[in-house]
Amino acid sequence: MQPSARTLFLTTVVLGWVAGTLSPEGMAQPVTVTAANADLRAAYATPQDIAEGKKVAAASCAQCHGMDGASTGEGVPHIAGQRAPYLHVETLVYKNGGRGTNPMSGAVKFLSDDALMKVAAYYGSLEPIPPTPPRAAPAGKSAPAKLDPVSAGKAAAAGCSGCHGEAGISKMAGMPNLVGFDPKYFVAAMNAYKSGQRKNEVMKTLAAGLSETDLNNLALFYALQKPGKAQTPAPGNQAAGKAAAEGCAGCHGDTGVSTNPAMPSIAGQDAEYFGAAMKAYKSGSRADPTMTGAAAGLDDNKVRDMGAYYAAQQPQAPKVRKPLTVAEWVERCDRCHGSNGNSTDPRSPALAGQRADYLERVMHAYQKEERKSAAMASMSHVLTDAEIEGIAAFYARQRARSVMYLILPAAK
Ligand code: HEC
Ligand code: HEC
Ligand code: HEC
Ligand code: HEC
Repeated sequence: MQPSARTLFLTTVVLGWVAGTLSPEGMAQPVTVTAANADLRAAYATPQDIAEGKKVAAASCAQCHGMDGASTGEGVPHIAGQRAPYLHVETLVYKNGGRGTNPMSGAVKFLSDDALMKVAAYYGSLEPIPPTPPRAAPAGKSAPAKLDPVSAGKAAAAGCSGCHGEAGISKMAGMPNLVGFDPKYFVAAMNAYKSGQRKNEVMKTLAAGLSETDLNNLALFYALQKPGKAQTPAPGNQAAGKAAAEGCAGCHGDTGVSTNPAMPSIAGQDAEYFGAAMKAYKSGSRADPTMTGAAAGLDDNKVRDMGAYYAAQQPQAPKVRKPLTVAEWVERCDRCHGSNGNSTDPRSPALAGQRADYLERVMHAYQKEERKSAAMASMSHVLTDAEIEGIAAFYARQRARSVMYLILPAAK
């Protein structure tokens, strides 16, 4: 079947969903094949093309991809049953140097476009590789379940609630509220205790035992809590405090709700902590050039009134994205990659059953723009490492299904 003269409809069918019955999701939109989308040629390869492709595979690919298209080691993807047009386009990208120098670029450098189309059709025609069963945990030990960042933050915060309140709302005078902070400020504050730049022995000891990931998880957990004012006494004249606080609004916001991640919100803050912080800036024991100046001219009465004013202001939640669960991510990825990663779009790779280490590496490559794709860029940039790991593990567990391309004559 030659495409050049005729227009064809290409329809992709995912095989073997439930004992041969097709789910509606198994059918893709018909694609019109013309000379302008010659990238789809591998979808209508003939049995003879596939037989020729097999010879190319034996000579040029099998040493790494096997004759069965199964990965032979870390970093090498499974390619058996992958969508043939996608495989073809990828080999051309490597050939044209689009991925820099790597084992692949050498392998395809001297092959013609025709040979690459045929070898893609050959690997695409193979049965996909069954998913590797998750490695069994050593006897007696069950692998610790990985917590999502918010749950991990919540677990780590259990040791903080005695002083800072159950969900970061202080009930003890002198203890700061931890709600309403941008995670950036929160992490910076913890690191300042760690380094000794902010002086507090208790907080220094606690912070020393926490990794950067722990700190990010804690910051995220507190940022997602419903903000509330500290439930502690706040003596002083609020009206006088409001007047005195005019000069603070530029950085801390009109009512102490900051919109700049580098400036802490101070709305609803515990008044005693507020007073102690101002005193520390004034004396220089909490060294911060901006605040030293702002605190310099203030007497104790003014600070007390401001403390009363800010304590009475309603704190607000910072703008923070609640991380999606793996299931929520997968739902988004599946829009292009097919149900559970079984793509029906000949241009979109299947992800089901692919090696997890390969999926992770590729996702990082999109993030760093080492591998460029308009479709993938917007998705991958917002993913955290933990999310990538979870998504890769999910797809690696899914059963890969092969596809069949049905070529229908175009309606006149
Ligand atoms: C020397 C080992 C080696 C040889 C030979 C080789 N490959 Fe690869 N191939 C790799 C590695 C490693 C990768 C992953 C590279 C990356 O991460 O960009 C890869 C990636 C690919 C991909 C991208 C898969 C995807 O899911 O995006 C395709 C397609 C591919 N190879 C096809 C072929 C074909 C066809 C041949 C023969 C013409 C071939 N390879 C020969 C090592 C090899
Ligand atoms: C024994 C009581 C205590 C415990 C437990 C405690 N903190 Fe603190 N924390 C304090 C005190 C007191 C301060 C104020 C120190 C200062 O003046 O700088 C503080 C300050 C902070 C600040 C800075 C707040 C700001 O407004 O800049 C953060 C952030 C913080 N703690 C987080 C935590 C986290 C996270 C934990 C649990 C891992 C924790 N704290 C456990 C007593 C405690
Ligand atoms: C030019 C910007 C700027 C101005 C003006 C300013 N601040 Fe700040 N303020 C900051 C920054 C930045 C920090 C964080 C410094 C640090 O990490 O110690 C801060 C920290 C604070 C803190 C400690 C918050 C905490 O949770 O530990 C208090 C309290 C505070 N400011 C009160 C005030 C008051 C009251 C005024 C007005 C008299 C004021 N600030 C004026 C920038 C400013
Ligand atoms: C808008 C459509 C679209 C969405 C949504 C999408 N992808 Fe993709 N994805 C593509 C296309 C197209 C490619 C092939 C791009 C290329 O050539 O590099 C691709 C490639 C990939 C690859 C490389 C596969 C291989 O074999 O090398 C991975 C891994 C991947 N996507 C994962 C994901 C994940 C995970 C998500 C969800 C977070 C996602 N994609 C969402 C369209 C999409």
